[in-house]
Amino acid sequence: MDNQTILDILTQTNEYVSGQALAEQLGVSRQAVWKEIKSLRESGYEIESATKRGYKLKSFPKYLNAPAVKAALNTKIIGCELTVLDRVGSTNDYLKQRGAEGCKNGAVAATREQVKGKGRLGRAWLSKRDENIAFSVLLRPKIAPYEAAPVTPLAGLAVCKALREFTGLDCRIKWPNDIIVGRKKLCGILTEMSAEFDAVEYIITGIGINVDQAVFPEEIAYKATSLLLETGRHYDKNKLLACVLNHLEQEFLTGNLEFTTTVFEEYSSLCATTGKNVTFMRGTRRVSGMAVGVSESGELKIMLSDGTVVMVNSGEVTAQGIY
Ligand code: BTN
Repeated sequence: MDNQTILDILTQTNEYVSGQALAEQLGVSRQAVWKEIKSLRESGYEIESATKRGYKLKSFPKYLNAPAVKAALNTKIIGCELTVLDRVGSTNDYLKQRGAEGCKNGAVAATREQVKGKGRLGRAWLSKRDENIAFSVLLRPKIAPYEAAPVTPLAGLAVCKALREFTGLDCRIKWPNDIIVGRKKLCGILTEMSAEFDAVEYIITGIGINVDQAVFPEEIAYKATSLLLETGRHYDKNKLLACVLNHLEQEFLTGNLEFTTTVFEEYSSLCATTGKNVTFMRGTRRVSGMAVGVSESGELKIMLSDGTVVMVNSGEVTAQGIY
């Protein structure tokens, strides 16, 4: 018998379900039902039982789990297939494999622990057990690879709006899509793509949100923060993940993956890089300038010392006063 099946039945109702009804629906004995309830309780599900009435799910465990995310999800496409893993190398790599096997547009994979988490520019991303939310979303848009550029800023905008709504923190976007609070990074996003010359096969956006870290390793402590460090609170990771997925559906699917005027205006108003002195790599040279805004296709506009404005569309930009 699969845990998920009993959970599915119990999560679909606020009423008690009798052991007999569960056993009949699942085609197993009442003793098997009782064993499964016991194991769910041991995993952190609070299940009430009452004589002659049966079982009722009262609360989900605090760690990331699919039924609790689904209960707060309000989407049609994003999360239509939702897997929460106990431990994985990288959710991006896991979903890449699922993508090659034909998983649906909007499939999501999240995990309690990531042991080979990947960051941008070949860096590692730290995801210790139950400390952060690490997940990836797979999209199958019918577009050419050159049309995929807005995915990254759209994801940044969605996560930034979700975090602002869920926590009340003044989260901002450090171009292109780090989410920061004050001068420190709260969330990173890594987008990868599988494509033919003229058509995208799938795009994977991987998102890591720092939630419960009380300390960071010395080498990143100056630039990393978590919701716990910013607020002193432990947030419900399942509800937060659902909130982010709800916002991703809104940003990814309403504008057909385009950087529309509304998106451009919202992104610009939340972009913390604008107005800052920045440095970036141009070929092999490090160049300085002033970030003067974001273009209508999501590139960063930087004014150089001679007054010319250049567009930067990828790579690392260091902004004065942030990191
Ligand atoms: C960055 O800021 O460098 C990007 C970090 C992206 C981390 C997330 S965690 C979930 C997904 N799986 C990965 O291996 N990486 C992304």
